[in-house]
Amino acid sequence: MTRTLLVLPGDGIGVEVTEQAMRVVGWFEEHRGLDLAIEERLLGGACYDVHGVMVEDETVEKARRADAVLCGAVGGPKWDSLELEGAPEEKDGLSRLRKELDLYANLRPARPYDALKKKSPLKPEILDGVDLIVLRELTSGLYFGQPRGIETLRDNSERGLDTQVYTTAEIERMAHAAFGLARDRRGIVHSVEKSNVMESGVLWRRVVSRVHAEDYADMTLIHMLADNCALQLVSNPRQFDVLVTDNMFGDLLSDITGAIPGGLGMLPSASLGPMRDDRTRPALYEPVHGTAPDIAGKGIANPLAAILSAAMMMRWSFDRAGDAELIERAVEAALDGGARTIDLAVDGEATIGTEAMGDAVLAELDRLSD
Ligand code: IPM
Ligand code: MG
Repeated sequence: MTRTLLVLPGDGIGVEVTEQAMRVVGWFEEHRGLDLAIEERLLGGACYDVHGVMVEDETVEKARRADAVLCGAVGGPKWDSLELEGAPEEKDGLSRLRKELDLYANLRPARPYDALKKKSPLKPEILDGVDLIVLRELTSGLYFGQPRGIETLRDNSERGLDTQVYTTAEIERMAHAAFGLARDRRGIVHSVEKSNVMESGVLWRRVVSRVHAEDYADMTLIHMLADNCALQLVSNPRQFDVLVTDNMFGDLLSDITGAIPGGLGMLPSASLGPMRDDRTRPALYEPVHGTAPDIAGKGIANPLAAILSAAMMMRWSFDRAGDAELIERAVEAALDGGARTIDLAVDGEATIGTEAMGDAVLAELDRLSD
């Protein structure tokens, strides 16, 4: 069965890390009978420079139909200064893909690595046994709500406005996604909002509680306020299994979980849309990190978040959980063997570049599959 994969390397280090992720994907084509039809297209600033838009309509259509989309990262100072008008889905290619494909369920897993324990700012005893997923709502809330904009007031000063908004249906599908995930894990869901001060948070808590009582009463639901959650993630992260939250809190809290593996360069993500009639779903895989303009083009970026995103693609789009685990074990083994990009090194450890890190993972794939 041939699956379609759309590759969108994007800008900055996105291009470099995606190249390594694709070498790993290629390994599975060569050794494990993975059958892919691959197409690569421009996204973000790279697309703007050629086509005058951050994403082409044709790319959105191809992404909609693809079995999976693998992204690098988008943006950079060169394009920030354009100050394009409009909503995020109008001025940013990645936001448009998230919105138009309705990729509402954003999975951001975080776990510690023995080899990186010194790199994490958290104490080893806090890291022990941590295994969590931030499930971030990705297509609504504060980042997309209307009205929004900057308006000029009568006294000529300005007023910036964003709207936080969630409907019952938007919260319900997040609750189902959270309990569905937790069902195959430890069965614990933390639902995170600010219902003490926000109306959208009051509704969020009410709807998640109802879905829990109706369909998942055998699982544990814990409500937690987002500010407290930020502290809990660094003081007692072991308590979390699935942490479901809105778009903005999920953006913030998932960056905090970078402290668990020891840096953003280790965090992959999957963004999943609604089930299609044939039981597949639109899906986009990307590292949580950005384009890192300061180190772009130097060949020193850490490709592991991109490679781990490819592992998530194996699991969530290609129905190849065993292959996903193999990639994850290869990454861990490469780290155990001392492979470190510059962002992962402590105490004067020797460092390697992006491609050499790709080599290290491929060597472990060979070794583990022998
Ligand atoms: C992320 C990023 C994006 C977001 C930015 C680049 C628009 O921070 O994926 O977490 O806020 O969603
Ligand atoms: Mg972010």
